Amino acid sequence: MTLHAFALLAAAVLAGAEPSCKVPRAEPSGSAAWAAAHASAAAAVAKMSQQDKVNMVTGVGWDKGPCVGNTPAIGSINYPQLCLQDGPLGIRFGTGITAFTPGVQAASTWDTELIRQRGAYLGAEAKGCGIHVLLGPVAGALGKIPQAGRNWEGFGADPYLAGIAMAETVEGIQGAGVQACAKHYIVNEQELNRETMSSNVDDRTMHELYLWPFADAVHSNVASVMCSYNKINGTWACENDHVQNGLLKKELGFQGYVVTDWNAQHSTNAAAINGLDMTMPGSDYNGRNVLWGPQLNNAVNGGQVPKSRLDDMAKRILASWYLLGQNSGYPGINIRANVQGNHKENVRAVARDGIVLLKNDGGMLPLKKPAKMALVGSAAVVNPQGMNACVDKGCNTGALGMGWGSGSVNYPYFVAPYDALKTRAQSDGTTLSLQSSDSTNGVANVVSGADAAIVVITADSGEGYITVEGNVGDRQNLEPWHNGNQLVQAVAAANKNTIVVVHSVGPVILETILATPGVRAVVWAGLPSQENGNALVDILYGLTSPSGKLVYTIAKRAEDYGTAVVRGDDNFSEGLFVDYRHFDKANIEPRYEFGFGLSYTNFTYAAITITSTATSGPATGATIPGGAADLWEDVATVTAVITNSGSVAGAEVAQLYLTLPSSSAPSATPPKQLRGFAKLKLAAGARGTATFNLRRRDLSYWDSARQQWVVPAGRFGVSVGASSRDVRLTGSIEV
Ligand SMILES: *[C@@H]1O[C@H](CO)[C@@H](O)[C@H](O)[C@H]1NC(C)=O
Ligand SMILES: *[C@@H]1O[C@H](CO)[C@@H](O)[C@H](O)[C@H]1NC(C)=O
Ligand SMILES: *[C@@H]1O[C@H](CO)[C@@H](O)[C@H](O)[C@H]1NC(C)=O
Repeated sequence: MTLHAFALLAAAVLAGAEPSCKVPRAEPSGSAAWAAAHASAAAAVAKMSQQDKVNMVTGVGWDKGPCVGNTPAIGSINYPQLCLQDGPLGIRFGTGITAFTPGVQAASTWDTELIRQRGAYLGAEAKGCGIHVLLGPVAGALGKIPQAGRNWEGFGADPYLAGIAMAETVEGIQGAGVQACAKHYIVNEQELNRETMSSNVDDRTMHELYLWPFADAVHSNVASVMCSYNKINGTWACENDHVQNGLLKKELGFQGYVVTDWNAQHSTNAAAINGLDMTMPGSDYNGRNVLWGPQLNNAVNGGQVPKSRLDDMAKRILASWYLLGQNSGYPGINIRANVQGNHKENVRAVARDGIVLLKNDGGMLPLKKPAKMALVGSAAVVNPQGMNACVDKGCNTGALGMGWGSGSVNYPYFVAPYDALKTRAQSDGTTLSLQSSDSTNGVANVVSGADAAIVVITADSGEGYITVEGNVGDRQNLEPWHNGNQLVQAVAAANKNTIVVVHSVGPVILETILATPGVRAVVWAGLPSQENGNALVDILYGLTSPSGKLVYTIAKRAEDYGTAVVRGDDNFSEGLFVDYRHFDKANIEPRYEFGFGLSYTNFTYAAITITSTATSGPATGATIPGGAADLWEDVATVTAVITNSGSVAGAEVAQLYLTLPSSSAPSATPPKQLRGFAKLKLAAGARGTATFNLRRRDLSYWDSARQQWVVPAGRFGVSVGASSRDVRLTGSIEV
């Protein structure tokens, strides 16, 4: 810390700022911990028969055990029946669990403490249920296609943000003693044809976008990685030598094991030789087509698969088990255990702080004890059939809290907008009228004369094995569902104080709504899970100032994204230019840019400082988990002083974007890329220091010819601001 920065921090503390959310942490001593785990694993492998090893790497078959994935116990080494269970936001099929917020909501908070706590609570619940491997977090899909069905499971459309969220989540889960599983590896960007298509990606794009967040997971010592359904350059992910052995195990130094997505294996020998370590569920969904088990035994006996490869699989699986300390005192499997604790507090905080305020004309919000209020929309109330009526959340009926598919869980309870607003209205003496349908007929009667008319609309998506209202996983378009535009128009025609609340899995085109007179506020409430209504009330009434920021761009037109669901193979011809990288390069004005979000207060930015020890050239360090060790070293620090100049407490997500030197970076480099963020919670009038630590990798591009990360020489542009387009401070780093 420079003396200057120290002085500013001291001033910030004096002014009453809460400390910055970025808590310094010791680097994970990955290599040493893995070395010890691998030594224990090697000793255990030496005691195992070949049959034991084959059992350890082969699931017992679909629907044959207590968990979605199971391997048999191995008595000779006191190894338990291993339990692998979905998923990224909680314990699938659990009955005493918390329905955590989806990844995209966690990312929208930009709050590393909340994201880490979410991970720790996920881990605690998994451990309480005796689950050894929790199947999450998700970094693929990254979200290059705004319509893609499963984007909401991950952390938004930027690899840097997704990488930080992956690291915090993996460390949270594994800190609780549970193996995390980074998935879906890799370039699994849409649902349509995911089990047949090939994603053909150039090497630089692979590294700088899609592999990037997986590198963070590996650096945080993730125990397992799940290979995806698709092909990469024509070869199935789970038998792709370059992707599994080359990129993951060699380049990133991954020490754990690769497990298939369910039924994503296509061969016995090629999968074994090319880097797969565990197959799940061990058969197809009819209990047939067992590709390992006896087949792998035969292949090893026949010499098609080397014995050393089978040993390596077992050793990697055991090393992860030892790494997490699961060899001692681990609870027995009980998916129905009550493990909720106080975890709903994290759900409410993430649901609330992930809400993004997009529009607030004339200070419509926060609400101030309105005398009369109206609430409209089928999404204002709990699904009348029941909060968990649709298997795997495969319907969009009633209030929306998460998308559908294997990455969903049952709600233990669900607070809909109406439930929470009714409680608040009663205590304020507000008359609240409700229309819990999306009908435009008669809605004018419900809303006319109200001091505020709140319309709740939605957009949903999920995994392709379920079709909802004609959407086969991916969304058919980026329009609101259930004629949301017409509903908003009908409400706003009768009430000039209309507030639109959007619960959505991803971007929605808002042009019709924004062009409707009477729409004074738009609250982007995302996917708030079980605390849907409570989080909304917190924001609508200003109990907390909104502090979420968009983790994807909201465009004016769907075509503006330059990417869409592909029929056939996807050549990734957009390269690095996805989301804001594309809008910036192509000079397209978004409606709301990546990183955007309003609050009930104002923040000013001042006093940028920049220190750097960065040197140009390639990273050359020894390989540690995550890649070359020097990639992870801090080489520059940028600080800025953020002041809450408004009249209420709030939190600001200050963002740092880097522009590589045009003189020496490759020409096809995005104009700017997110390389730092800091969320500061500030009382009215208080100021604090945002500190951005840039690692060598943050200044590097991937040089395909050299097969190295390279820091280009020249002048780097530093932009610090409130969004990707609201730059408040600039500076430069000379390298
Ligand atoms: C796919 O092919 C492209 C073009 O030949 C190459 O740059 C890239 O490294 C390949 N990627 C993988 C993962 O095989
Ligand atoms: C991808 O590239 C292949 C080979 O060049 C071509 O045949 C195919 O049409 C391309 N796919 C798309 C969706 O553009
Ligand atoms: C924020 O600043 C704008 C313009 O400078 C001003 O109109 C607005 O009242 C301020 N808001 C608050 C909450 O201080």
